[in-house]
Amino acid sequence: MTKSLLHQNKRLFLFVKNNYYVFMKKIAVYTSGGDAPGMNAAIRAAVRTALSKNIEVFGIMHGYVGMIANQIAPLAKKDMANIIQRGGTILKTGRSAEFIKPEYRAKAAANLKALGIEGLICIGGDGSFRGAQALSTEHKIPVIGICGTIDNDVYGTDDTIGFDTAVNTALDAIDKIRDTADSHDRVFIVEVMGRNSGYIAAQVGVGGGAEEILTADNIIPVDKLIEQLKESYARGKTSSIIVTAEGQKPGRAYDLADAIRKKSGLDAKVCILGHQQRGGKPTAHDRILASRLGAAAALSLLAGKSNLMIGSKGADLIEVSLDLVTKNEKPGDNTLIQLAKSLSV
Ligand code: F6P
Repeated sequence: MTKSLLHQNKRLFLFVKNNYYVFMKKIAVYTSGGDAPGMNAAIRAAVRTALSKNIEVFGIMHGYVGMIANQIAPLAKKDMANIIQRGGTILKTGRSAEFIKPEYRAKAAANLKALGIEGLICIGGDGSFRGAQALSTEHKIPVIGICGTIDNDVYGTDDTIGFDTAVNTALDAIDKIRDTADSHDRVFIVEVMGRNSGYIAAQVGVGGGAEEILTADNIIPVDKLIEQLKESYARGKTSSIIVTAEGQKPGRAYDLADAIRKKSGLDAKVCILGHQQRGGKPTAHDRILASRLGAAAALSLLAGKSNLMIGSKGADLIEVSLDLVTKNEKPGDNTLIQLAKSLSV
């Protein structure tokens, strides 16, 4: 494959494998799936990087919902002012049931093509990337993904935008819960987000000094849990925090607390942290990660690349094929769970 770059009149011309020139003048950015603190910083970095190369940038509102409904408008430099510190996403987001159908993807592609949009930057998780990939394959629109989800459950990247903020928000809550748990000699079951993944639970559990962390990779029968609690009380503890990942069905913490109360007589309470974990100002870590990922995504797209996610490995940014990202599950990591156990004695 021959690939060369020519800069002409400050526009980018790409010579791609099938021997035609693509004159990339217009691209679009959107956020999709659950919002995550730091998404605005990623939008800002991607948009400003592209604008600095004299590329016109559009914002698609509400993710795939707005792509289908043609809620697409140009973004100016000034639209990016004062957003780096804001949680949520100025482009709004959505979960589109329609986008899984080819006819709606065709409608979305027609809307993009009518505006002359030749490339996309998708900020979201693996579900959003699956949609981006289908659109790109069927309608030949290049796409670059930026991993943004509080769950940190995207294959191929160590970190995702919003994860650090969500962990810190949950930790702040746990510190407060500890005060009241300790005053009343209670067991608290604290349920954190993350759907099927236990990444938030593991970090929050270690950072919050939890007595136990329950995830899909660390399922503990209630009798064993009670035994552990009783042992720790025998050693002199008077209160406990158990962090549990929400799993497929948020709210299961209530069943667990009921079972503990009935079987042991211990005073067990529940706190479901819920959507507050998705809001708030992004931490410095998330702002910096998002700025790096956003700028790198714009440069990759403008360099003629497609079907890639920009992620991180250690301190480095990496490009990972969207095929790999969408076909694999990020493995759980039990090391933090074991650490929490050994430190809570
Ligand atoms: O994927 C992010 C996430 O916050 C998950 O942790 C959670 O299970 C889900 O989104 C909740 O989604 P919604 O806000 O659509 O109910």
